[in-house]
Amino acid sequence: MPGSLSADEVRRNLETKWLGRRLTCLDQVDSTNLVARQLARSGAEHGSVVSAESQTRGRGRLGRSWVSPAHKNLYMSVILHSDLPADRLPQVGLLAGVATCDALCEWQPTTLKWPNDVLIGGRKVCGILAEMEGSPGGRSLILGIGVNVNAEEADFPGELRRKAGSLLLASGRPVDRARVAGRLLTHLETWYDTWTREGFSPIAAAWQERSGMIGQMIHVAEPGTVIVGQVLGLDDDGGLRIQLPSGQEHRVLAGDVTVVGGYGPQPKAEG
Ligand code: BTN
Repeated sequence: MPGSLSADEVRRNLETKWLGRRLTCLDQVDSTNLVARQLARSGAEHGSVVSAESQTRGRGRLGRSWVSPAHKNLYMSVILHSDLPADRLPQVGLLAGVATCDALCEWQPTTLKWPNDVLIGGRKVCGILAEMEGSPGGRSLILGIGVNVNAEEADFPGELRRKAGSLLLASGRPVDRARVAGRLLTHLETWYDTWTREGFSPIAAAWQERSGMIGQMIHVAEPGTVIVGQVLGLDDDGGLRIQLPSGQEHRVLAGDVTVVGGYGPQPKAEG
């Protein structure tokens, strides 16, 4: 279909050894994570990717939905076979955030917001949903990545318009989705390989460098309460370590985080 993302176009932009070599580009689906889950159950290989032009039930973190207008953005899910224990799953979400941050900063300066939102000029342009799935050969991770590439303000419902952004809104120019998909998967393979080879510490360091959150005061809306604290760093479970006003240390494992004073555009360091 004209204007649709084709697997051939994405492949032309891929510099990967194993990720995205099996790539399925679909039209409308309920959620690419649900499609990927089915594919994993029926034996899809490690590194398979499914993308769609639109989602009728795009899923976000904390039971939210993900706005998925047709032909404008990227909605992708990656199938990764790994026997990693469930408590290591957030590490993969964090590494995917680092990879997406690196890919999108080829267009615009990006920052990371815990756990794995990518922001441009303080607005969210990417969300990541990492889920576990049983598959014939063991366990799989389904890594769902939504990137607002060419979304316009009118594509977002009223309450999101101040918070959500896109590459188009940030630059004033339409952006080639196949190029973004190719660059994103290429960075993702690099960071996933680093993680399997060297563990979580290079990921944590890269995340901290790109988030600009260390030392900042934050509000955390946890179920039933709001807490305030100063960010100390990440722990091995991908939790955010903060220091409460009492001096006590606290780990944030879920909830919505807001930096007091807001997120400026903090480009990641070159090199
Ligand atoms: C978040 O709430 O920040 C996570 C959003 C994740 C959205 C992506 S879009 C592709 C994949 N399919 C889904 O249903 N969700 C993820």
